[in-house]
Amino acid sequence: MASPAIKSSFRYVLFTYFVVILMPSLLMLNKGTHASEEILKAEKDFHLVEVSSILPPLTCKSTASRGPKEKSTLKIVHRSGPCYNGESIRLTLSQILSHDQARVASIQSSRPVSIAETNGIRDRKTSIPNKPGSAYIGTDNFSNYVVTVGLGTPKKSYTLVFDTGSDLTWTQCQPCKKKICYRQNDPIYDPLQSLSYSNVSCSSPQCSLLIAGTGYKPGCTGSTCVYSIQYGDESYSVGLFAKETLTLGSDSIPGFLFGCGQSNRGSFGKNDGLLGLGRSKISLVSQTAKKYGEVFSYCLPTPYGSNGFLSFGKGVYSSSKTVKFTPFSASELSEYYYAVDLVSISVGGKLLPISFKVFQKAGTIVDSGTFFTWLPPAAYSALSRAFRKQMTSYKQVPGVDVMDACYDFTGLTSIKLPKISFIFRGNVTVDLGANGILTPVSGQKQVCLAFAANSDASELGIFGNVQQQTMQMVFDVAGRRLGFGPLGGCS
Ligand SMILES: *[C@@H]1O[C@H](CO)[C@@H](O)[C@H](O)[C@H]1NC(C)=O
Ligand SMILES: *[C@@H]1O[C@H](CO)[C@@H](O)[C@H](O)[C@H]1NC(C)=O
Ligand SMILES: *[C@@H]1O[C@H](CO)[C@@H](O)[C@H](O)[C@H]1NC(C)=O
Repeated sequence: MASPAIKSSFRYVLFTYFVVILMPSLLMLNKGTHASEEILKAEKDFHLVEVSSILPPLTCKSTASRGPKEKSTLKIVHRSGPCYNGESIRLTLSQILSHDQARVASIQSSRPVSIAETNGIRDRKTSIPNKPGSAYIGTDNFSNYVVTVGLGTPKKSYTLVFDTGSDLTWTQCQPCKKKICYRQNDPIYDPLQSLSYSNVSCSSPQCSLLIAGTGYKPGCTGSTCVYSIQYGDESYSVGLFAKETLTLGSDSIPGFLFGCGQSNRGSFGKNDGLLGLGRSKISLVSQTAKKYGEVFSYCLPTPYGSNGFLSFGKGVYSSSKTVKFTPFSASELSEYYYAVDLVSISVGGKLLPISFKVFQKAGTIVDSGTFFTWLPPAAYSALSRAFRKQMTSYKQVPGVDVMDACYDFTGLTSIKLPKISFIFRGNVTVDLGANGILTPVSGQKQVCLAFAANSDASELGIFGNVQQQTMQMVFDVAGRRLGFGPLGGCS
């Protein structure tokens, strides 16, 4: 039987989501209570990480789904990982960074203009972002998280990129000449083959919701409402605004407003369209407010994990003891994005010496479509400095683009990685997993600190999907709060 001290040491070890080298701790525990306290502290402030768990080649770890039991639960797959059932795609770190930069810039340019910034010249009405809900999705291959939904009667399956940064849900639609629809994996949706399809008329109040949801005035063909949406890059979708029965898991949502896209220019990989989880009235979250109470949750798998989920409704998390909630930011940003107040960051148990005003100046949003976490320049440099200081026993190598804390782990089987925690309003401390701290540099035994610096202190911060991996994220829109579950909510 293990002694209580060893048992409690084990608890830390087991709760560390990564494979841990146990022997040294066990041997040192024999040296007495002082040593064991040291070890407990070390395990509290460090991850002991197996190098193979953060470097490619990654193989799909097939695990049974353990998402919420809600009927609306959908499985999330990482498109560029080995679990994706299709063309496997390898992205270089530089490619990911340029995608992120474009997305950050487009969110930035569609950010609401605050009254202060315009000297009070603009009123509230004109402070609507120029193109809300049109964040850059990225060129082919970059839409990394997808879910499969059902559409129509009889129901057919479509794989959509889900996006907390935009509102309109759309799929490519017939009649659609090959030239103006891009290639997708599934057969293109055909309204003529569905009993539950109907057009939305130009004069209906629903048609006028499009302005807030897409940033573009709707058009009219015959008497049918026409939507158009253009994303940060050159990609766009134009088509009929329509109603259809949407199926999420085994829940069906009749009369769901969506875009029946007859002219689409692709940057959407071979996915069939987009699932908009943003904040305006046409987003899936708002349209299903009565059914799901404006609550949804997802857990993004690691690139080699297979049991991520997206789920809707109040039952999505079992206990507010394990999920920690921070309120949505009171700033105007919250009208358009899932904005929160980042207060501080700690590295290896020590808070960075920066004022929370650095974060407050521009605000922070949580986004499903940006890979890395983008920080104000002063915050990034403090984070990188603190991290490098605790990583001096490893070989530092030249940086990649904006990432300047990169290491070569050749010859090592395990490393001691300082923990990084984000502290949000309400003293909500969110510990990141090792895969949210280091990111591999493609094709080498090298990794970089998985954060990036904005070019300007006024640009908003983004808590990206790499850092969200394996935590259950709970978007309680009605309760105006965001929840973070512990690491290991999925794999
Ligand atoms: C996307 O990935 C495929 C398969 O790896 C590749 O052939 C194609 O060139 C990539 N497209 C872009 C725009 O990078
Ligand atoms: C929807 O509107 C389009 C364009 O006016 C029309 O061609 C189509 O027949 C309509 N579909 C239905 C089911 O009413
Ligand atoms: C914040 O939470 C941490 C534990 O997560 C605790 O140690 C600390 O005392 C708390 N600080 C405040 C101001 O409540």
